[in-house]
Amino acid sequence: MKNILIMSSKNGSNFEAIIKYFKNRNDINFKLLTDNKDAYVIKRAKKLGIDYICVLKDEIKDFFLKNKFDLVVMAGFFKILDKETIETNTFINIHPSLLPKYKGLNAIEYAYINNDLKTGITIHYANEFVDEGEIIFQKELEINPNWSLRKLEKEIHKLEHYYYPRIIEKLLGLNVLVVGGGAREHVIAQKISKSKLLNTLYLADCNDGFSSLGNKIEYTDYINLALQAQKRNISLVVIGSEEYLANGLVDVLNKYKIKTIGPDKNFARLESSKLFAKKLMEKYNIKTAPYKKITSKNKIDKYLSYFKSPIIKADGLAKGKGVYLSDDINSIKKELLYYLNGKFDKSSKTTLIEERLFGDEISLFSFWDGENLLHFPLCRDFKQNEKNENTGGLASICPIEIDFETNKKLDIYKNKLFELLKKEKIKTPFVVYSGLIITKDDVYVLEYNVRLGDPESQSLLNYIQNDWLEIFYMCSIRALSSIKLIENNKQITTIVMTSRGYPNEIKKGVEIKNINSLNNKTEIYFSNIIKFDGKILSDGGRVLSVTSDNRSDIYRVLNDIEFSEKEFKILDV
Ligand code: AMP
Ligand code: GLY
Repeated sequence: MKNILIMSSKNGSNFEAIIKYFKNRNDINFKLLTDNKDAYVIKRAKKLGIDYICVLKDEIKDFFLKNKFDLVVMAGFFKILDKETIETNTFINIHPSLLPKYKGLNAIEYAYINNDLKTGITIHYANEFVDEGEIIFQKELEINPNWSLRKLEKEIHKLEHYYYPRIIEKLLGLNVLVVGGGAREHVIAQKISKSKLLNTLYLADCNDGFSSLGNKIEYTDYINLALQAQKRNISLVVIGSEEYLANGLVDVLNKYKIKTIGPDKNFARLESSKLFAKKLMEKYNIKTAPYKKITSKNKIDKYLSYFKSPIIKADGLAKGKGVYLSDDINSIKKELLYYLNGKFDKSSKTTLIEERLFGDEISLFSFWDGENLLHFPLCRDFKQNEKNENTGGLASICPIEIDFETNKKLDIYKNKLFELLKKEKIKTPFVVYSGLIITKDDVYVLEYNVRLGDPESQSLLNYIQNDWLEIFYMCSIRALSSIKLIENNKQITTIVMTSRGYPNEIKKGVEIKNINSLNNKTEIYFSNIIKFDGKILSDGGRVLSVTSDNRSDIYRVLNDIEFSEKEFKILDV
């Protein structure tokens, strides 16, 4: 149980916003302190059922010398506390300007009278000077010149009521749930487990290779998962793979007021319906290959004749296997017939025929928080195996360098993507994964995903040196503008160990021995393994991946592993 004291001298609208925000939490105890027995905040406390105490100004120091709290939140408290008092507890304060501008009283009026173009709010640790303690968080607000002072005040208060509780939540430590069971979720869980912001990490559907990183949650359905998350005071759920998103996990969690990284079911169609994605790209003038939608077998010959070099794509999700590429038109025709006959069930009853594009592929990951789009350094996923078959990804590197001209084209694309998300009013925070191809003339979108990639995540999350929980959390509370990315000084590589035959039929349940990471030099992330009887057994096509900034170390680890089905790609770029 955490004990939080909120201090307010007057109206107490921030007090009320905080109490309401935390009303489902069973691990926080709030109390109000006021120095004004006539303050309106007392009425609010009574209505909300919060204990309050009136302490006269001269007795405040004595009160804090005797009472300890996990956090003291000043919310419109008009007395400066001396050094001795401040040192008794951790005090935070909120101020309606972008400090150090306009310390003290009337900060909003000053910004207004001075015709400032922007102002904002600052949350900071309090010290014995007015509005001078270390800054924790700031949020800017653009001032519309037509606003009245009253309107500006209202907008500032809106920001305060939204961000103050959420930043308090972060300061108290976060309970986080990671959903999914691949190597991508392994690296996400690993990075979160190292965060200084973490309280407790929970895992749902994890595999045996990383279950020790957190507490496992077993669930029967999404509502059950949401109820369990609520009971455990989980603030944030990071969802790794697309099936959960397409099936509406975010919609359920959000109903229970649990924050998520992942789009709602409606916008998850950006990945789960290629047709939906194509239509949006057309609407926003985003370059993508010409296509034709086909549902009827009678139209196969006619439609294929429209394309120079056709490929086919199932409209719906197909576990990364929905694209068929071939130079031989007869095998395309044959495959198209399978697709329309339901090779991927409902997913391929509608299929797209699309012009094949040629060039280098890149993966661009961008975090969208409902307002800001934060782009990460480019990654590359190596999808083709030796037989030139498309797989779910056999290796990745981060970052990728591109030339100046391509970068300019990429910037144009980034602006269009921003416009799309803004104009479509996408409110759910999520990761936009743009699968791009650089052709002779421009940057084209091959496909969209709405989550992090695998195996790109293993490289990207090791390349970026920030606290990853901070990135996820700030994304979930519309505060990405406060994140500055810190990059590693060396490129990171990931190589996936697969079972012989992948992406086609493979053998499962084969023992793997001698999995040894080189201390601090390589990381091993598990995708498909089970632990049984003290042994580690393979359980799928992609088994594990090894990540490092040193390729020879990666190959040393892979060569040392004993696994009769072992295959991996040798990267020569
Ligand atoms: P998936 O992740 O199953 O949607 O597969 C996407 C992959 O299919 C891309 O990364 C490309 O390698 C390939 N692909 C998709 N569309 C095209 C296209 N128009 N031209 C060439 N390759 C494509
Ligand atoms: N790297 C491919 C994917 O995550 O879909």
